[in-house]
Amino acid sequence: MLTELTVTRYITPLREGGSLPGLVEADDLGTYVMKFTGAGQGRKTLVAEVVCGELARRLGLRVPGLVTLGLDPVLGLGEPDQEVQELLKASGGLNLGMAFLSGAIGFDPLAFRVEPKEAGRIVWFDALVGNVDRSWRNPNLLMRQGDLWLIDHGATMIWHHNWPGAETSAARPYDASDHALAPFAPDVKGAAADLAPLVTEELLAEVTAHIPDEWLTGEPGFETPDELRRAYARPLLARAAVIHERIQGLQTRQGDK
Ligand SMILES: Nc1ncnc2c1ncn2[C@@H]1O[C@H](COP(=O)(O)OP(=O)(O)OP(=O)(O)O)[C@@H](O)[C@H]1O
Ligand SMILES: [Mg+2]
Repeated sequence: MLTELTVTRYITPLREGGSLPGLVEADDLGTYVMKFTGAGQGRKTLVAEVVCGELARRLGLRVPGLVTLGLDPVLGLGEPDQEVQELLKASGGLNLGMAFLSGAIGFDPLAFRVEPKEAGRIVWFDALVGNVDRSWRNPNLLMRQGDLWLIDHGATMIWHHNWPGAETSAARPYDASDHALAPFAPDVKGAAADLAPLVTEELLAEVTAHIPDEWLTGEPGFETPDELRRAYARPLLARAAVIHERIQGLQTRQGDK
């Protein structure tokens, strides 16, 4: 389970985010980036954040810590901005929070260098979860004190929008041609050798256990939250073994075939 906190103060919207995430303070006095259940993209975006965030962390990638944030919609009443007020009012109950990385700046592929090993691990991970939101236009990578951090995993696992077709959808290749780290000669083969063996049924069970039950109930075709958790694990387990051979759009490096 994720640590459960309660929002005590809404600080400000993060305007550059399409889903209007907000900066909030919680009852542990920490500052969090809050992703709202009432946002247009719905709760599946939040499930994707939990699955990918917890999986990435276990594979040794840097992701901000995740928590759940309980929200009393009354907090919206004093909010002058109409759009924010509506979002707060529509998001009573459980929302997702991620630790705010104070002092981090957006990754700029023209200004920073990334080693092939690290680039390979990130591209391989994005291929695994089918992340379409790490392009050079919108890298969703933050830099802090020379370290790269991964954020924004809402647009992943497209197969969870249509479970009956999930197997076919998850068998598709991954197009990395627009990936923010494509220019850094990502060593995806090396990454696959290191990381694929870690993606086991046990690990995925541990990861999916972090999804709150209330974001899993009522999915057509599934009787229980645990059944749906297993459905999240299956395509990831299958992709882990093969996805490095299905990454398209990367330049072949000298020495590779
Ligand atoms: N944990 C964090 N620490 C610091 N800044 C963050 C963090 N998470 C997000 N941000 C900032 O907020 C912005 C929006 O966050 P995020 O990309 O997760 O939202 P989104 O609405 O899903 O965005 P998008 O426009 O990519 O769909 C980021 O580009 C980044 O500048
Ligand atoms: Mg983003």
